[in-house]
Amino acid sequence: MTPMENFNVEEIRQDFPILREQVYGKPLTYLDNAATTQKPQIVIDTLTQYYSKENANIHRGIFCLSEQATKRYKSARHKVQEFIGAAADKEIIFVRGTTEAINLVVQCYGRTFLKAGDEVLITHMEHHSNIVPWQMLGEETGVKLKVAPINDRGELMLEDFKKLLTDKVKFVSVAHVSNALGTINPVKEIVRLAHAQGVPVLLDGAQAVAHTPVNVQDLDCDFYVFSGHKLLGPTGIGVLYGKREFLEKMPPYQGGGDMIRSVTFEKTVFNDLPYKFEAGTPHIAGVIGLGVAIDYIGSIGLERIEAYEQELLKYGTEKLLQVPGLRLIGTAKHKSAILSFVLGEAHAHDIGTILDRQGIAIRAGHHCAMPVMQRFNVPATTRASLAFYNTKEEINRLVTALHEVTEIFQ
Ligand code: ALA
Repeated sequence: MTPMENFNVEEIRQDFPILREQVYGKPLTYLDNAATTQKPQIVIDTLTQYYSKENANIHRGIFCLSEQATKRYKSARHKVQEFIGAAADKEIIFVRGTTEAINLVVQCYGRTFLKAGDEVLITHMEHHSNIVPWQMLGEETGVKLKVAPINDRGELMLEDFKKLLTDKVKFVSVAHVSNALGTINPVKEIVRLAHAQGVPVLLDGAQAVAHTPVNVQDLDCDFYVFSGHKLLGPTGIGVLYGKREFLEKMPPYQGGGDMIRSVTFEKTVFNDLPYKFEAGTPHIAGVIGLGVAIDYIGSIGLERIEAYEQELLKYGTEKLLQVPGLRLIGTAKHKSAILSFVLGEAHAHDIGTILDRQGIAIRAGHHCAMPVMQRFNVPATTRASLAFYNTKEEINRLVTALHEVTEIFQ
């Protein structure tokens, strides 16, 4: 079967109840998928079913509901393991989202194994969540942040990256896909280069996992992090994948229930992986919902999703470039379906407000990536970010509305 065979977007859209909604009497045109994706009915039903019929805490009760919740929680971990090709399910740690996953690595790995003068190498296109936690660590420990530059298309300058990867660099932390530009980074090559120097690598997969197949063993990254809500799942649940050898040697940074084997006032013995990093009652419904979202994505197939989104990206790029005065910010050769742009003198927030009145939901601002805005010398961009349930018709609506914006701001 070719990737696009049997890809029926109208049928797929039926699975997403919110796509039938109207805003200001206009059909909702949802183009803010990089911020969060919509949820298929099956994920919504799973959450309702869990809370109305199955709710109980895990790992605690000796009663049927608790045992069932524990089983479903474990099964979701196994689904995540398979989804990203991890070697073992104990390498999957459930956290609140990408931000918490990076903070966990900074606190548990960074604080333990990095020292004053060591450098962490990131890129100019990182989300704030892959900048600020490292800066906070730096304030405390003297670890320095080093930034690899990007070119005018928004691509990582790999030769400069290689030069910056000196003996002082002790950790590399890079976005798989840029949320502000859509750039797909050469992450396998980045991991190869870093490992050649014995440096571990974290990949921020927040904008990747819902759009392209990911296999962490093939990438050979040491950590891979992502959020459930950008993957059709609930908010408040995310994943830290870590190679077992790293997770084993990292101390936990949150203590409490479930992460212990035994506690006395004199001494606590921590639990095994993955529980060591999951203190307290987790987001059980979120984990189960994420497992169902992963099943749903699997039923469509990420290869087909990727092929369809690339077709939408090509179509959207061509159409947007026909809008007078529109400049795309982020024109990398390898790009995910993210269209960031500026339009003449119109401010992104004004564009966003005008589009909203047409029922079109996009994001306007710095996209939690202020250094990217500084690099392109713009205060903000307007960003349309696509998913596999979007259509060419929706892109046409966006483009028509943007033509209207240009008339207002003439
Ligand atoms: N990081 C998310 C975005 O890019 C919220 O919109």
